[in-house]
Amino acid sequence: MNLQRLDPDDDAAVTAAMALGEAARAADTPYNPPSHRRSFVGHLRYGWDGEPSTVWLLYHPDRSGEVIGRLSLGTSERDNLHLTDLGITVHPEHRRQGIGRALFEEGLARVRASGRRLIVTGTVEAPGPSAFAKAMGFTRASIEVQRRQDLTAVDHAHVGQLLEQARKASTDYSLLRFVDAVPEEYVEQIAAMTAAINDAPTDDLDVEDEVFTAERIRAFEHAFRESGSTLYRLVARRESDGELAGHTIVGASPEQPDFAYQLDTAVLGAHRGHRLGLLLKAEMMAWIAQAEPAVRWVDTWNAESNAHMISINEALGYQIVSRHFGWQRDV
Ligand SMILES: CC(C)(COP(=O)(O)OP(=O)(O)OC[C@H]1O[C@@H](n2cnc3c(N)ncnc32)[C@H](O)[C@@H]1OP(=O)(O)O)[C@@H](O)C(=O)NCCC(=O)NCCS
Repeated sequence: MNLQRLDPDDDAAVTAAMALGEAARAADTPYNPPSHRRSFVGHLRYGWDGEPSTVWLLYHPDRSGEVIGRLSLGTSERDNLHLTDLGITVHPEHRRQGIGRALFEEGLARVRASGRRLIVTGTVEAPGPSAFAKAMGFTRASIEVQRRQDLTAVDHAHVGQLLEQARKASTDYSLLRFVDAVPEEYVEQIAAMTAAINDAPTDDLDVEDEVFTAERIRAFEHAFRESGSTLYRLVARRESDGELAGHTIVGASPEQPDFAYQLDTAVLGAHRGHRLGLLLKAEMMAWIAQAEPAVRWVDTWNAESNAHMISINEALGYQIVSRHFGWQRDV
């Protein structure tokens, strides 16, 4: 199979890869907005937080410059050294011709050569991708749900009542607002707090806790900045001792002015029970409405089993858009 490594500096290859991504989006997840060049290239260069996946393209054998398949392999050197995250996309007009299987065989050979023992992947909940994952030997291990909030349809009276209760339950806490990079004095504490995301359920996935350091927080900020996104981070701090208790982050981008993305929300174990999750998310909603007035939709992803986070999201008017399956397979 003649795969070409995708170089983020190769404009023609980026254009061809984006065309494949757009064809697949329109066919598989039409409810999602198209991706934009700056965020696409930024993600290729820096990934989520400085560890980008390696991407290969499969070109059409006859039609010059047209990409019909894509393979990506992602690994971390910070934790989870046993696994590789694999992604495969086949152009909708070229499916059921064995291209997905051939890309998978290529990926499997590369993972085997790397010495990692587990492959994980994700699909939207749909018969084709699930049948493909099973045919490639994967077992379903987790369910994630994508929800979307329409900021023009929020029940503000209801949210106001919830916020009132949350404020009463959290009188010893104040909120700090950070845009993009967090101040140096907080970065170590932010890293420790970010690790609270490890308490979110991962269902049956054979994954370990992720390791968060100040370096990783800076790499995350850098990746989003280079992708053209603004990060809004709201942090709850306990006044009595100054300890950071929890945070929530939303990313927004001028390339996609009507959409924003809910990133991590986490409250440290010792600070749970003060309705900080609701306080943070409801206050964030108000902040986004004021700082990014063009935003109408906010998307969030949670494990289906994360009942606590989901009840907060539903109270804020989030509604289900799609379900996604996580799959794994031993090498
Ligand atoms: C899933 C996907 C990669 C399959 O690509 P493809 O080139 O059509 O796959 P193949 O032709 O190699 O199919 C291999 C086997 O998977 C199964 N399969 C694939 N698509 C299927 C479908 N729509 N319905 C039923 N079975 C399917 C079949 O068992 C098939 O073997 P067969 O054709 O001999 O019956 C493609 O549909 C796609 O890009 N989907 C969107 C992204 C995605 O979900 N990727 C998978 C996560 S890595």
